[in-house]
Amino acid sequence: MVPHFILSDQTLFTNPELFEFDYMPDQVLFRESQLAELAFWIRQGQEEASLVHVICRGPSGCGKTTSVKHLFREIEEETDGIVPIYLNCQTDQTPFAIYYGIYARLFGKKPPRTGIRAEKLVSAIAQAVPDRTSILLICLDDVQHLVQHDAVGEVLSSLFRMHLDFPECKITVITTTSDMQLDFSRIVDLPVSLTICSEEIPFPPYTAEEIREILFLRVREGVLPGVISSGVLDQIVSKTEMAGDLRIGLDLLKRSVLRAEHEGRGAVLREDILLAYGDARLLHLKKKVQGLSEEERAILLRVHLLEERGGGGLISGELYGNLIEEEEIAYSIFMDRLENLADLGLIDLRVRQARGKTDVILPRYSREEVEGICKF
Ligand SMILES: Nc1ncnc2c1ncn2[C@@H]1O[C@H](COP(=O)(O)OP(=O)(O)O)[C@@H](O)[C@H]1O
Ligand SMILES: [Mg+2]
Repeated sequence: MVPHFILSDQTLFTNPELFEFDYMPDQVLFRESQLAELAFWIRQGQEEASLVHVICRGPSGCGKTTSVKHLFREIEEETDGIVPIYLNCQTDQTPFAIYYGIYARLFGKKPPRTGIRAEKLVSAIAQAVPDRTSILLICLDDVQHLVQHDAVGEVLSSLFRMHLDFPECKITVITTTSDMQLDFSRIVDLPVSLTICSEEIPFPPYTAEEIREILFLRVREGVLPGVISSGVLDQIVSKTEMAGDLRIGLDLLKRSVLRAEHEGRGAVLREDILLAYGDARLLHLKKKVQGLSEEERAILLRVHLLEERGGGGLISGELYGNLIEEEEIAYSIFMDRLENLADLGLIDLRVRQARGKTDVILPRYSREEVEGICKF
């Protein structure tokens, strides 16, 4: 029986940790082919004396981190001789921090803090590999967060160069990224890039049915029966699909259940979702805006300003014309920035065919929302 009224110290959750973003589910649904391919390339790197670079690419919240961590856990539990090393580039943002993390994991202790240079760390790692593991298996998660100029190229080049300097050091690197533009072939040193076997595994957004099944399992295991009705789940699924990010769904579930709990109700209502969605959407926007460069932020603000003035249908050429009145930038750079805003889901770009191809820019958030967040 669904409880109609709950006391303030009662909770509707049976396992609240299931709704945290870093929770590792027992099963990674709908990623069988990606997991099999990842496993294949890891074995390939172990058996052949080749250097393997696997790129997992897809938008935010489509299971990249979960898949890699799941596989790493399996390797740790069931395979002797491989030490998988996972690094989150949002936390370790510089080449030095990356080498430091690998060293600490491989040696089981931190390197001396003072006076140690990056090259020293790298050669200590390379020399230790044959004794400690059959291959160095590293995941650089969300690699686009390596912040210094050319840092992604520098890290990848020096990791793979270890094998050229110390041939017994086999290495496989898995990078994940939500940056659809990042071109790995151009950023690794040429002599090194010729020796690498590079493979890309796409992670497409989940379909509505897949989202429903994943969220359904969490609901079944994480909250009391009857708290989330089938209709309420459908509404959450549709908002998640629109956002293209599973995190939105998990966050909506958590917030709407908390809201129902706060109101002393035993079930989530549609209004809980609408209110929770407002909070989740803004949180999402804030996260994306924080990751933008100053120039991209300026373009986003300008989009909203012109869009409101023009009353809809802002065209890319018009925006470019307006921007170069203040700053000289090449059209290609402008378009790269604009496309990045679109990849992040901050705007939509629709191609219009009218005397040549133009892009119509459609904002995804309101001017007040964007300006409010950019000011902080
Ligand atoms: N296939 C899946 N099965 C179950 N949960 C998933 C699956 N894919 C993603 N999730 C959940 O969705 C959230 C976001 O996934 P994550 O792997 O971090 O995405 P990404 O790294 O692509 O941004 C995580 O909390 C994770 O538990
Ligand atoms: Mg991730």
